[in-house]
Amino acid sequence: MEFMKGIFITFEGIEGSGKSTQTTLLCAALENLHYKVFRTHEPGGPPIAEEIRELLLNTKNKEMLPETELLLYSASRAQHTGEWILPALKDGKIVVCDRYYDSTFAYQGAARSLDMEFIRILTDFATYHTNPDLTFLLDLSVEEGRKRIKNRYPDRLESEKDEFHQCVRNQYLALAREYPERFVVLDGSLPKETIHNMVLTKVLDYIGAQCEL
Ligand code: TYD
Repeated sequence: MEFMKGIFITFEGIEGSGKSTQTTLLCAALENLHYKVFRTHEPGGPPIAEEIRELLLNTKNKEMLPETELLLYSASRAQHTGEWILPALKDGKIVVCDRYYDSTFAYQGAARSLDMEFIRILTDFATYHTNPDLTFLLDLSVEEGRKRIKNRYPDRLESEKDEFHQCVRNQYLALAREYPERFVVLDGSLPKETIHNMVLTKVLDYIGAQCEL
């Protein structure tokens, strides 16, 4: 099934909140229902954006300044949005993206204390004013998130202190309050099948509402 204009769905949350799992489950369920789905993630996507991802996450880049970090996430997003996301949406696909610009407001804006107004302007530029239709925030305590990722080698941002991740979580919740029309906050500590059912129900409701327009 195709839409006149695609649907843009994003997943957000701290490390270990289950975004990738839910992205996988949602894409599989939608494909089973014969929707055209395009799965992707940030930072990264097309080759240029993946090279920027490597710079951003490499633990050897300890000297990276917050300003550089913000510009690199934004550069990666511009390439990703222009090269992959916009064409997929134009093609009527359901684009499901693991993290998008809300991550920048949470990590670089809140946790790195960079100017939110400037991030807003930069984000509009880097996304060609492309906004998600639905954003699922998988809310989880920092402690629980840490437990879940303890077996993987931490990247540059995962290596940050608990207060950093607490700041990220609080900012996500603040964003969800600010943009209730697109955010759906789910308890990330629930079983993955329960969360998946809630996500799928919401997405199918949204699609149904679009078809009635
Ligand atoms: P990734 O391995 O994709 O993380 P996860 O599996 O936890 O989603 O690494 C992405 C890291 O980049 C993660 O720590 C969050 C961070 N990030 C930002 O700081 N700003 C951003 O705009 C984005 C998209 C990610």
